[in-house]
Amino acid sequence: MSKVHEKSPKDCAKKRFNINKFHKKFFFSFSTFLLAILSLVFLVWLILHPKKPQFSLKDVNIYQLNLSDSNLINSTVRLTLSSNNPNKKVGIYYDVLQVYASYKSQIITQETSLPPFYQGNEETNLLSAALDGYQIPVAPSFGYEVGRDQRIGKFVLTLKVIGRLRWKVGTWVSGRYRFNVNCIAILPFNSIPSGPLSSKQGTVCSTIV
Ligand SMILES: *[C@@H]1O[C@H](CO)[C@@H](O)[C@H](O)[C@H]1NC(C)=O
Ligand SMILES: *[C@@H]1O[C@H](CO)[C@@H](O)[C@H](O)[C@H]1NC(C)=O
Repeated sequence: MSKVHEKSPKDCAKKRFNINKFHKKFFFSFSTFLLAILSLVFLVWLILHPKKPQFSLKDVNIYQLNLSDSNLINSTVRLTLSSNNPNKKVGIYYDVLQVYASYKSQIITQETSLPPFYQGNEETNLLSAALDGYQIPVAPSFGYEVGRDQRIGKFVLTLKVIGRLRWKVGTWVSGRYRFNVNCIAILPFNSIPSGPLSSKQGTVCSTIV
């Protein structure tokens, strides 16, 4: 037989009070500690202040842009991007890089993923992407727009990169940040479909992190 020992409500109240006191003390020192760490990280961040990576378009070629009667397009686009990390003390891990092309706000290729890579301080890398579109639906005005551009002699193509990156400072690596790159290529419109539309100008792209 066991004896059941019951505490009086008074005991319990006392104990709870002590626990509360301990919790408060612990909570206080913990938040102070956390605050100190956060301010330190913020300070380091302010001092180093990573600059956005810079992208530019080295070349773009449109090999195919075929529109069917039912407003579906097949497209073949090849491009080379130059990517530069302007920071002296910050490296960049590119974890996700998805590229696609659009024309007059309409997507004309599938998204292509580029392999993830690490970019050291002040490093420049060339990224090549093969973008293909297969039976992509577009607005009925698409053919008319392309025809008009052909008469003007200029084809304006937008190339977009959607990605995730992490900053590396010394041995510390940040969390993931989304970034978007927007490049506008103006291609002289002459020969499609008999030859590719090409541009070799070094268009600078805008980047948002
Ligand atoms: C695209 O269209 C052109 C002519 O309009 C044709 O010669 C070419 O074979 C077509 N390409 C594909 C892959 O359908
Ligand atoms: C797109 O490609 C498919 C398969 O190769 C073909 O059946 C279709 O006719 C093509 N569309 C155009 C507009 O060339």
